[in-house]
Amino acid sequence: MTRKLISFMLRRSGLLGMSDAVKYRVQGLRMRGSNRAFIREHPGVDLPPPYLVYESYALDFRNYWHDGLDTARFVLASLGRHKRMESVSLLDWGCGPARVVRHMPELLEGRECKVSGSDYNPRSVAWCQAHVKGVAFSLNGSNPPLAHPDASFDAIYGISVLTHLSPDQHAQWAKELHRVLRPGGVLFLSTHGRSTRSNLMPWERKEFDAGELVARGNAKEGHRTYTSFQPPAFMEKLAAGAGLRVLEHREGGPAPAEFTQDVWILGKPAA
Ligand SMILES: C[S@@+](CC[C@H](N)C(=O)[O-])C[C@H]1O[C@@H](n2cnc3c(N)ncnc32)[C@H](O)[C@@H]1O
Repeated sequence: MTRKLISFMLRRSGLLGMSDAVKYRVQGLRMRGSNRAFIREHPGVDLPPPYLVYESYALDFRNYWHDGLDTARFVLASLGRHKRMESVSLLDWGCGPARVVRHMPELLEGRECKVSGSDYNPRSVAWCQAHVKGVAFSLNGSNPPLAHPDASFDAIYGISVLTHLSPDQHAQWAKELHRVLRPGGVLFLSTHGRSTRSNLMPWERKEFDAGELVARGNAKEGHRTYTSFQPPAFMEKLAAGAGLRVLEHREGGPAPAEFTQDVWILGKPAA
């Protein structure tokens, strides 16, 4: 409770950005040995600047690389339960510094797939464009649209992107992702579901239990310090409002759950 309360007070007083900057430095010091060892052991891995790694995940190069690969495999297996992942056009929405999407070209080798990535952070997109081969990257705004025409993709995934957006942006982006999906296409989204309920303050828990999105603002929307929590009833309504069908919902959490966040697989009905 004490940690939750401190974080609540910092957000309330507008000091969360400052405390996040301190956290970045502390994490950098704590992970220094392990990160140096990773660089020594993996001279061929082109790593993004440390702050980009921190901002999108944690300042842990080993995790950035290995968990990124495991997640890419998990996403493909999840999408593959609903769509044959051969000759598909695939988008990573909110790709950050390519933790997951950089593994896709190799995992999809020989399947004639086209891989794209998009993010609203110009520094991440610029780094990806200069360093990651086999993926077409583009910059999008904080609000839609994406740089892609209607019905561009057979499959889209967004890992921990909704978890940093406001209620209004949830609705806007659900409609936009529907627009760029082909009929019959599938969308993988990860969210903060019931397993994160214990992180909520008592009044937030009430909102969550009533099926409402809990958004912790007073921070830059889209940044790691802006956090939101999506109860299942909210996600069902969001999908229906955007014309998407729920094909699968898996609750996240610690092992034995396969993924820490909830996974939603939504489908755009065939025309
Ligand atoms: C927690 S990070 C996850 C990054 C990446 N998906 C991963 O799993 O490594 C959230 C990402 O969402 C991106 N993001 C936030 N708002 C966005 C928006 N409106 N459109 C696209 N990307 C956005 C951030 O820049 C960041 O890269």
